[in-house]
Amino acid sequence: MTPPIKFFRAIIRCSKKMIKAGRGKTIDAVREVLDPPDVDMHALLQMRARANRSLDQVLGITSTFASEDERTHEEDIGRVERLLSVVNLETTGWRRLVKVADRSVFHFLPTSSCEFATFIRCVTFHTWVVGVLNPDDPHNRELQHVDLTVEQITNAIFEFSEHGQTNVSPTQIHNILGQWVTGREDDPDYRAINLVFPLYDKLWRLVAATVICAQRYPVSRNPLLDFCENPTRRQFAISMGGSGDPSAADVVNEVLRLYPPIEQISRPYGLPRWQAMLKCHVQTADIKAVQEYDEGGSRMPEPREFMPERWQNEIKPAMFAFGEGKLRCPAHGWVPAAAALIAAKVMDGIDGVRLRMERPSGGGDTRYNWEGWTVRRVR
Ligand code: HEM
Repeated sequence: MTPPIKFFRAIIRCSKKMIKAGRGKTIDAVREVLDPPDVDMHALLQMRARANRSLDQVLGITSTFASEDERTHEEDIGRVERLLSVVNLETTGWRRLVKVADRSVFHFLPTSSCEFATFIRCVTFHTWVVGVLNPDDPHNRELQHVDLTVEQITNAIFEFSEHGQTNVSPTQIHNILGQWVTGREDDPDYRAINLVFPLYDKLWRLVAATVICAQRYPVSRNPLLDFCENPTRRQFAISMGGSGDPSAADVVNEVLRLYPPIEQISRPYGLPRWQAMLKCHVQTADIKAVQEYDEGGSRMPEPREFMPERWQNEIKPAMFAFGEGKLRCPAHGWVPAAAALIAAKVMDGIDGVRLRMERPSGGGDTRYNWEGWTVRRVR
């Protein structure tokens, strides 16, 4: 008979293997977690809703991110497509958005100093709500202080996103967003929070990471500033320098590769118990790790370095920042240009003369590249 100690060691070895098996780090494994073959839409939505239970419980979110209902999914995708069709780069909505982003930066620039991340959250939230969710308002509208300020609301959303809870009650958040997001006559019962979280939350993180990369790697400054001056689809894609210089699109792609706003996606599989034992109950797609490989599955040279020019190679880096397959982000074609626009307006506003960005004093590794940075007015 196996002595008990050996038996327990065997169990620990087996569980370690199972945990490892549950983390997809290769392109095929990540694809299989995000878009498993033979799993229908309903089952996929069910898995995601199960992983996102706190969205509904804490924030009262009822969108497809927290629902297993296929009809909710279809309606939400339709809503996003309609919203984005008004602000895509060829429209007057986009030209209006450019002005809104400009004003939002101006509005939130500090009179003396502020935390960089707080500033970016306010600017992105304001641009998103006034520029995208309220397309019929005047572009120079400012969100009025009702009950809580933009900074307080964005802090509450950040707290929730980081720790799964916030001290601000969902009712208070719904009331305020209900007043700020107008023009929903066709859809009066749809909660405004569904149009804000998690959509804006991912956008501000990308904007923040982009501004920091532009600050740290001068090669990415000019493409973004050129796009700021001429915010067209053509300008977004072309490189203005010599051959090998990156375009604004290359810069944002490289930011998404190294700093994906969603680093991992976990899906709790509703497998029968015996299969769950073999396959692991929760499968995780490690997006940040797999983006160190190229599309062909080879690990890239210097995968942790910021090198936007690698996007000009024939074989591109693997990109899963927007998910994969049936649940892939419907905003993936719009988000990079929108993030580049807001980031470039911020860089234009913090000109280094009247205002400048200051690095965290301690140095050292932080979870996010924007942690500890501040914006300071030069006296
Ligand atoms: C940096 C910004 C963004 C990133 C990185 C991002 C990333 C993602 C990812 C990874 C998913 C897949 C989730 C999953 O498989 O469970 C997703 C889904 C989704 N995203 Fe985004 N997203 C961003 C911004 C946005 C924005 C601005 C919108 C709205 C305009 C949006 C709308 C959606 C919707 C509706 C889904 C659900 C798709 C479905 O269920 O079929 N996203 N996004």
